[in-house]
Amino acid sequence: MDIIEAINGRKSIRAFKNDPVDKTLITKILEAAIKAPSAINQQPWHLVVVTGEAKERLASAILREYKEKGMVHELVKEELPKKYERRTQELFTQIKTYLDEMGQDMSYILEGSCRFYDAPVAIMVTMDKALYPSRLLEIGAAMENLMLAAHSMGLGTCPIGFILRYEEAIREELGIPNHMEVVLGIALGYPDLDSPINRFRSSREGLDQSSTWIGFE
Ligand SMILES: Cc1cc2nc3c(=O)[nH]c(=O)nc-3n(C[C@H](O)[C@H](O)[C@H](O)COP(=O)(O)O)c2cc1C
Repeated sequence: MDIIEAINGRKSIRAFKNDPVDKTLITKILEAAIKAPSAINQQPWHLVVVTGEAKERLASAILREYKEKGMVHELVKEELPKKYERRTQELFTQIKTYLDEMGQDMSYILEGSCRFYDAPVAIMVTMDKALYPSRLLEIGAAMENLMLAAHSMGLGTCPIGFILRYEEAIREELGIPNHMEVVLGIALGYPDLDSPINRFRSSREGLDQSSTWIGFE
């Protein structure tokens, strides 16, 4: 698959088939992830790949925390410039159409995120706390590589940040050492193409809103 085709074709997948993902495919995807560039080649990522019963236990532990504690540690700053709030509202409004069609509400997204949308594989992305937070740039590059590689192989992904609110439960369940920070979860599996939610495609502002061009005619 051409790289531009992969970039344009990838989107977050929020319903998965039960079919397991072959370990050799997961290996190829992770190998693509860690090809990402990093400042002075420090390779700040460490990926914890979870499947089978271990993944089910992880999802149950996160879901339990969500149900007990609710939406703790709100990550969205209160005083954000309006355009960010507007974009989030747009996402929620657009996605609601598909949730309505499924007879679902936003709890499908919140609980679904906790369960990695029932994908057979969960990848927890961790980074050493000793590194500067700016190294997250490189983690982001690796994650995009991972998601594009998965898409090119017919697999779907959803990055999941919501569960970071329950980092302690994740750490305990997977034995992640204290010096490592959990920075993202990723659901990985074969997309359930019959689910209406997977027809949803998020919008983007035009380039006029997202770039400044200097010195061009
Ligand atoms: C860091 C990060 C965290 C995210 N967390 C969640 C999440 O918890 N649950 C979810 O359903 N989607 C989550 N997403 C997916 C975004 O909603 C999605 O990327 C965005 O709406 C753009 O849509 P697209 O990925 O389909 O292009 C997250 C994406 C990123 C990059």
